[in-house]
Amino acid sequence: MKFPEDFLWGTATAAYQIEGAVREDGRGTSIWDTFSHTPGKVRHGDTGDIACDHYHRLDEDLDLMSDLGFRAYRFSVAWPRIQPEGSGPANQKGLDFYRRLVEGLEQRSIKPMITLYHWDLPQALEDRGGWTSRETSERFAEYASIVYEALSAEVGFWITLNEPWVAAWMGYGLGVHAPGRNDSAAALAATHHLLLGHGLAMERMRSVGDENQLGVTLNLHPAHSARDRDADREAARRVDGQANRLYLDPLFRGKYPEDLVSYYRERGIEPPVQDGDLEKISQPLDFLGINYYFRHHIRDAPDETPSQAPFSDLLARPIVPHAAEKTAMGWPVEPDGLTEMLVRIKDEYAYIPIYVTENGRAVDDYIDPEGDVNDEERISYLESHFRAAHRAIERGVDLRGYLVWSLLDNFEWAEGYSKRFGIVFVEYGTQRRIPKSSARWYSEIIRHNGLD
Ligand code: FCB
Repeated sequence: MKFPEDFLWGTATAAYQIEGAVREDGRGTSIWDTFSHTPGKVRHGDTGDIACDHYHRLDEDLDLMSDLGFRAYRFSVAWPRIQPEGSGPANQKGLDFYRRLVEGLEQRSIKPMITLYHWDLPQALEDRGGWTSRETSERFAEYASIVYEALSAEVGFWITLNEPWVAAWMGYGLGVHAPGRNDSAAALAATHHLLLGHGLAMERMRSVGDENQLGVTLNLHPAHSARDRDADREAARRVDGQANRLYLDPLFRGKYPEDLVSYYRERGIEPPVQDGDLEKISQPLDFLGINYYFRHHIRDAPDETPSQAPFSDLLARPIVPHAAEKTAMGWPVEPDGLTEMLVRIKDEYAYIPIYVTENGRAVDDYIDPEGDVNDEERISYLESHFRAAHRAIERGVDLRGYLVWSLLDNFEWAEGYSKRFGIVFVEYGTQRRIPKSSARWYSEIIRHNGLD
């Protein structure tokens, strides 16, 4: 089973999850600094203050990638390193760090892929409304153009946003992520301003007129009804509306999904759309990034009250099938959902180059008595998902690459350091890196550009 020539194999990370050094070289405060330092928000009170100390161990981590033969690396730029207060001139020291990173990748023939926004909004912007405020979209475009001007000659792949659903709904709708607001109206406003920010940033980057590939990354989850009941099917349709079509429709069709919009309108909420916004949001993408983890299995939940539970405001409840294998996050292992989503994009939205910009699983990893980390569950997860991706290619999907989440164990947001997604183990107290069995297995896959 071979993958297309020049298939981009690599790994992915995000700034707040690995860098640490939160007060160094002029970095400002982000909403995740504030949130993680608020008691009760993150498991064990963990914060990203030190994380994987990647900021100080850049060369070691680059060598690790190169020793393992990885061809691409998706990382995010921390907005508060570039603009500590979210606006104004660039902080040169912040840019210097990412320049060193990009040059280090170049020296090792690893292709860089930049994510501009992986959730670390400058706190100063949150204080003025954050993503519920239209001004944040403008600020984001300004920030994007600063980074683009500095690094566009070296970096060929640019992702504006990572998972706007998570930023908007986990952050503003459910309150389980920073900034911790619990209000569907705020989440809808945040959704619109994130997408608008994407559009405005695309315009600024596109105006440079180079050959770089510009796109956006969505977390997409097929939503199925959990039982053979009409009410469950309708609930699954609402979840599909919020989780998938709320992002895909404006990006590819220039409109919000009418069924979902009227559901919220009946409850007195509407996305704050102004004339011309949807044209900006729907300008052509060079590629789509998809993060895939699992499928939703949905039950109708008419008595639900809006809470911190996902989709509670849609009177819907995700359940995890009893029979499913589950990851350490409790997520069901469902490789077929990846094929399904990739094929759906082609059939319903666009024939467009796609990169799986994240896929992986949490395992209860530990260093065994031999000193190894033998994560066979992760190997079998990745293998089944690579096969699922290959099936999509056979069905005509233009899949160009695959970035495994994640290079290193890291700060897993509200779960802190308790959940390990790395293919390299991090012993946090000493910052020792130990490639897991999956890392060696993955390097063989890459060397063969496929599986037997
Ligand atoms: C995704 C995030 C990423 C990581 C994985 C497990 O939603 O983009 O940062 O936390 O989940």
